[in-house]
Amino acid sequence: MKKDAGVLAVLTGGGDCPGLNAVIRAVVKTAFQNGYKIYGIANGFHGLITGDMKLMTPHDVSGILPRGGTVLGTTNRDNPFHYASGEDANGEIIYKDMRDVIVNNLKAYKVDCLIVIGGDGSLKIASELSANCGVNVVGVPKTIDNDLPCTERTFGFDTAMAMATEALDRLHTTAESHHRVMVLEVMGRYAGWIALHSGIAGGSDCILIPEIPYDLDSVIKKIEARRKQGKQFSIITVAEGAKPVGGDITISRIVKNSFEQIRLGGVGEKLARAIEEKTGIESRCTVLGYLQRGGSPTAYDRLLATRYGVAAVEACIKGKYNVMVALQADKIITVPIAKAASEPHFVPVDSDIIRAGRHIGINFGD
Ligand code: F6P
Repeated sequence: MKKDAGVLAVLTGGGDCPGLNAVIRAVVKTAFQNGYKIYGIANGFHGLITGDMKLMTPHDVSGILPRGGTVLGTTNRDNPFHYASGEDANGEIIYKDMRDVIVNNLKAYKVDCLIVIGGDGSLKIASELSANCGVNVVGVPKTIDNDLPCTERTFGFDTAMAMATEALDRLHTTAESHHRVMVLEVMGRYAGWIALHSGIAGGSDCILIPEIPYDLDSVIKKIEARRKQGKQFSIITVAEGAKPVGGDITISRIVKNSFEQIRLGGVGEKLARAIEEKTGIESRCTVLGYLQRGGSPTAYDRLLATRYGVAAVEACIKGKYNVMVALQADKIITVPIAKAASEPHFVPVDSDIIRAGRHIGINFGD
């Protein structure tokens, strides 16, 4: 085993996601084998501000490959450039830019490169640290939403899609028994990847995604047409970011201190009520929620997460900093982190997957 190659640190930022532990495991093992010291930072950028980091060895990651969540902890609230550091006399939150604290902590631990496993918020922070604070970073694309640019897949997506597909299978049997319309609301923020993939895999009759604003009458027509064919039930998969033509997204809450403050949710219930009102068919909504994020990653996600973790350390070995590891044409490559922190990756409306759905009679609300 090599010795004294340098010092790395790893953190997980943003919402948790199946496969985070598989990346951490791969990072720690690869770093260790190549002679690096590797620090695990607790709770995302929060731990980097408070200096909450500890040395890790392969022993610390033993057995975590199939485990959901992250052994390092995470948060999607602590933006280090706009960090809630107390309250003023009027009870107003005081925000501070903590970049100097981060830089000093990394220097104190002699960290050569910071590996950031995160979604768009964490990768934007990483990009800013590399561009303007002199910190070497390598990003790993994490999110169940699959909405990051420059990569064909984020780890976690496959597990969320599998979970949603299983939910659709289960909804079919109860919908059929009760002659109901069942709406399944899935996550995905402003992109429809989870809804599209699980909707097709789970045999939905309608799939509503943010990229194609929906017309309620079109959805109703599909349900009525099925009724005429003797199908007394219908299954609708709706992405939390879906919106009607000329209408708006449905917001469930605002999370202050978060990089992205809007949380979506509620469109499924609205839709179920409107369908029941217009058709007279009993309609129910299921919000799949955090079940998509929790639990054990699929084999695909474990493999992808492992490849990403190894590639992140390989980039450090080569001194190829300020990049994100990515999947393109089933090869792991690196792309500049600035590009990875750019516009989200939406479902192309002319995608062959949507075309396939249309050919088999799925209604996309248009
Ligand atoms: O980005 C992952 C995700 O699960 C989205 O699909 C969802 O909109 C959001 O995070 C929920 O965030 P929170 O954990 O803050 O409720």
